[in-house]
Amino acid sequence: MSTTDIPVVTISTFDEAKDTYRQKDLRQALYDAGEVIMGDVLVNLHGAEHRDRRRLENRLFRRETFELYERTLFPPIIAETIAPHVATGRAELVDLGHQVMMNLAASTAGVDRPLGTPEETHRLYDYLMRFIEGATLAHFTGDKEAKRAEVAGKLSEFDEAFVKPSLARRKALLDAGHELPKDVMSILLANEDQLHLPHDVLVREVAFYLLAGAHTSATAFTRVAHNIFKWLDAHPEDAALVRADKSFVQRCTHETIRLQPSSPVAMRWALADIELKSGRKIAQGSKVVIDLLAVNRDQTVFGADADDFNPHRATPDGVSQYGLSFGSGMHACIGQDLAAGLTAVNSVDAEHTFGLVPCAVQALFDHGARPDPSDPPVMDESTTRPYFGKYPVLFS
Ligand code: HEM
Repeated sequence: MSTTDIPVVTISTFDEAKDTYRQKDLRQALYDAGEVIMGDVLVNLHGAEHRDRRRLENRLFRRETFELYERTLFPPIIAETIAPHVATGRAELVDLGHQVMMNLAASTAGVDRPLGTPEETHRLYDYLMRFIEGATLAHFTGDKEAKRAEVAGKLSEFDEAFVKPSLARRKALLDAGHELPKDVMSILLANEDQLHLPHDVLVREVAFYLLAGAHTSATAFTRVAHNIFKWLDAHPEDAALVRADKSFVQRCTHETIRLQPSSPVAMRWALADIELKSGRKIAQGSKVVIDLLAVNRDQTVFGADADDFNPHRATPDGVSQYGLSFGSGMHACIGQDLAAGLTAVNSVDAEHTFGLVPCAVQALFDHGARPDPSDPPVMDESTTRPYFGKYPVLFS
């Protein structure tokens, strides 16, 4: 069958999307072109293989880890990454967002940054950007084969420079009977007897966590800041909230992620004939595309103003303000509470975590960030996806 003959089923309503995510006979299809980074990583596994690895990795993604990250580990990383920019009075948000989120994602993935210098951040950042290109090859507008080879080369350099030393440090801790850091690499190492992961798969799993945590959150970071700037232009009465109420920034984050999902589509292959509750039939071999831009603007769920950005929006019970932007079902984002905090934004108590995107955006506003009037933002021309390419801001 040529690719043009493959039947494509597009899902664009909220209820059908939830039902689709639940189907066990739908297999991941989004990263078929990105195997160089995504081969055998969690999001690409299916059935028992996926369940077993997810069960082990879930051990890290618990409330106490989120609290440890948000209250203890992340604040100094955010402060250190932003400080040099604040010192110059200006920053470019696309780069800054990737640097902040990458340093946070490195500590979640278990990629040590022993030097902690800006130079080391830049080296890791260069790897991250190549991995992002590798994972999103389907959307790359240049020479795909050349890019694939370049990414493979970068992956082996990354292994030598970061993965092997990080692994050696954890092995030494384990051998000495010490506690391991709370990160994905430690989980993989401690459960090696059950997982039997070849080294190249471990390297890709760690690289995948680095980019799954960093790229999505970094994309959200710039968009949240942009949406807040626009919202405050039109609603100056909310200006105080942005400094005084972190749950406002959290709501702006959820609303941004709903309207501009970091991954705008989910894709699956039908391994068998399927019938959804709505009566829609999906034939074996079809490609199923969940159109999150449409699903998250479903007016029957989000109201007549579903297309508008409104951080004060109320959603029906059981529907998150960020819609289905973190997926649902077996591949639901393992890091969603880490990235966007707990969803109970109306009842914030001492236990509440706000999420790393809101915390990082809050840090911008704490330093009085505002768009640079002499250097307006531009879009990224190297991809078909709507990313900002450059977003200059000034601090006061
Ligand atoms: C704004 C931030 C984020 C967004 C919008 C996001 C979005 C998503 C989506 C849509 C999926 C499901 C993919 C599918 O169904 O095919 C997913 C899966 C995943 N995400 Fe996230 N993510 C974010 C942050 C993070 C963070 C911070 C981490 C790691 C700490 C992370 C790790 C993962 C992993 C490991 C999976 C695969 C889960 C599985 O297959 O079982 N994500 N994410």
